Amino acid sequence: MKIIMLGAPGAGKGTQAKKIAEKYEIPHISTGDIFRANIKGGTELGMKAKSYMDQGQLVPDDVTIGMLLDRISAADCANGYVLDGFPRTIPQAESLTKALSERGEKMDYAIDVNVPDEAIVTRMSGRRACLSCGATYHIVYNPPKKADICDVCGEKLVLRDDDKPETVQKRLTVYHEQTQPLIAYYKNAGILVTVDGTKNLNEVFKDITDVLGA
Ligand code: AP5
Repeated sequence: MKIIMLGAPGAGKGTQAKKIAEKYEIPHISTGDIFRANIKGGTELGMKAKSYMDQGQLVPDDVTIGMLLDRISAADCANGYVLDGFPRTIPQAESLTKALSERGEKMDYAIDVNVPDEAIVTRMSGRRACLSCGATYHIVYNPPKKADICDVCGEKLVLRDDDKPETVQKRLTVYHEQTQPLIAYYKNAGILVTVDGTKNLNEVFKDITDVLGA
């Protein structure tokens, strides 16, 4: 099963993508996590990505598309994957469609996690992230077992640099301009599913699995 998660920054794409990946035993591929791992590792890709991410801008398509297409060619993607944060622009979506059709493949679902902007800013200020393994928490809605410590790997949790309120506003503007048009793109492709992301995270997951099946 090949799934795309759509939705504004902070809508809960990553939270749901991890649960989908676990249930259906497919890899969770987050372009944001790949960039953050490169920033942490001090790679050239990481340095380039950081300058855009810290300003709430998208990393240019010429960097992002090749990186993602390489990743989905890996052996662990043979039975599908869940994409979180890609595509984010129409050129990214078109490149993905073209690359898959050249292999005789296509995406199965594009799941739009729908949350209004007002709820996003509140959520982001409470998010805590593990930069080591990519796990995410919320201090109220999804707290770690021990305050500020990752349940999965024991690393210290942080507020992401791009979760400051002024950067979140910029990311929302970029989302509406460049990423929201993908909803119509995947509606036209006949694979769009919209879920209400304001429900609690287990209810959102149930709405998704009701569509994906057992
Ligand atoms: P990325 O890491 O992809 O960030 P994003 O899309 O902005 O999404 P987030 O990770 O912020 O949010 P999310 O929707 O996954 O929400 P989460 O589940 O954590 O990208 C970061 C940057 O990298 C971009 O700005 C860009 O610069 C660059 N980039 C990445 N991909 C790119 C691409 N393809 N092209 C170009 N540039 C790219 O949930 C948020 C919070 O809410 C958490 O605290 C969570 O616990 C909580 N929560 C989740 N669900 C619920 C719920 N139902 N109720 C209550 N709380 C909830």
